[in-house]
Amino acid sequence: MNSQALIAKAAETHFLTEDEILHLLQDETAHEAILQAADSVRKKYVGDEVHLRALIEFTNICKNNCLYCGLRAENPCVNRYRMQDEQILTLAQKAVTYGYKTVVLQGGEDPFFTTEKVVFLLQKIKALGLAITLSIGERSYEDYQAFKQAGADRYLLRIETTDRALYEKYNPNMSFENRLRCLNDLKKLGYEVGTGILVGLPDQTMQSIARDILFFKELGADMIGLGPFIPNPQTPLKNAPQPVLEPALKVMALTRLLLPDVNIPATTAMETLEPNGRIKALQSGANVVMPNITEGEERQNYALYPGKAGAKDTPLSFRDKLTAKLAEIGRPVSTGYGWHKKKI
Ligand code: 5AD
Ligand code: SF4
Repeated sequence: MNSQALIAKAAETHFLTEDEILHLLQDETAHEAILQAADSVRKKYVGDEVHLRALIEFTNICKNNCLYCGLRAENPCVNRYRMQDEQILTLAQKAVTYGYKTVVLQGGEDPFFTTEKVVFLLQKIKALGLAITLSIGERSYEDYQAFKQAGADRYLLRIETTDRALYEKYNPNMSFENRLRCLNDLKKLGYEVGTGILVGLPDQTMQSIARDILFFKELGADMIGLGPFIPNPQTPLKNAPQPVLEPALKVMALTRLLLPDVNIPATTAMETLEPNGRIKALQSGANVVMPNITEGEERQNYALYPGKAGAKDTPLSFRDKLTAKLAEIGRPVSTGYGWHKKKI
């Protein structure tokens, strides 16, 4: 089948084989058509509304050493911080005031935040009427269960790549098996599960990306967040080639074609590579934005990669700018919680 026929098949049946996905990934002339098809499928399945999730980056301390990430334990150049409970709860309260319905509690894998501490925060935040997404990495089944009972609704844990050898090369002392175990536990416990990958890691093949997309489907992911890999000068991958936006947009669009009803954020890494990257993503399959409501110094210090978009905005200025931009492209801000509604 040629690319045009494959895109039509994907848009109608939401099924492609690994080779078919690979064919589309390799055909550079198919780029625009894939993005457009994803935009139509997005409109048909999840509508024009954009769901906003307020992001709180509550600790930049991490015990891991992912080779691509600025927060890796062995990076001595980071001003490390760990927010106090009150600071986190004040930000959650502000999220309510700003009109957000979901908060995302994101942090490095920081052992200071024990099960009890996280449960305490979840219970307090739940009482504010917010949906809660956690993004604090790999934990035990028992932890995930306790977090769910305390009010966590969703969990973000990117698989990063399904190429096992590559995963273990870039995530020293972490095991691919355990990553899968975590994702399966989260599914079992009834979370809305978000996963995703980095696009453009050195030595990542197109074939592995085709498999990544099929993995999202197989897992039954509810949300897929993916972004371009942006080399960080403070990490071992500092000399990787300059990142580009297009491949990540294309992988995102293909993901929308194959998982038509899931929630897909236009990620900050996309906006970092191009001033209009977020809007482009929203017009190529995405339907979620995660505005960062972390304030002050902490906002500057959560530096996974350089030049992170919005690091200098305030939460309110960002919200106003975003709402105006969304209005320009005819995309209303959702007033609901934005749960994943399964349609296929
Ligand atoms: N460029 C882009 N994304 C990155 N992440 C970590 N480091 C980078 C980087 N250099 C992503 C990972 C992680 C998420 C929180 O941030 O995919 O899962
Ligand atoms: Fe830690 Fe996550 Fe960065 Fe890895 S990607 S070093 S787990 S913050």
